[in-house]
Amino acid sequence: TFVVTDNCIKCKYTDCVEVCPVDCFHEGNNFLTIDPDECIDCSLCVPECPAEAIFAEEDLPEDQLHFIKINADLSAEWPVISEMKPHPEDAAEWDGVKDKLQYLER
Ligand code: SF4
Ligand code: F3S
Repeated sequence: TFVVTDNCIKCKYTDCVEVCPVDCFHEGNNFLTIDPDECIDCSLCVPECPAEAIFAEEDLPEDQLHFIKINADLSAEWPVISEMKPHPEDAAEWDGVKDKLQYLER
């Protein structure tokens, strides 16, 4: 499966959802997740993310492994998103800021 990681938080560009053939992205207030049971491993979303926040599970950096469970858990709670929407006005300022998990709105 593919996994959305820390740098999506507060950036939430949503370009990724437009290309997903199986609509497996789920939307929270300031983060998206991928449903691991629906993702077909096509990898199309990876180059679409301006924040480079999406990784194949096997390619996850070690400090992002906790996002496997976060994607699975929150995908079960959050609604599907399949159309791009405007990103937060300050998205560019948050792009690259480390350890944004503390800001995740669940
Ligand atoms: Fe969707 Fe493909 Fe990305 Fe999985 S890898 S979330 S199926 S676009
Ligand atoms: Fe997040 Fe990148 Fe999609 S910032 S919403 S994973 S395009």
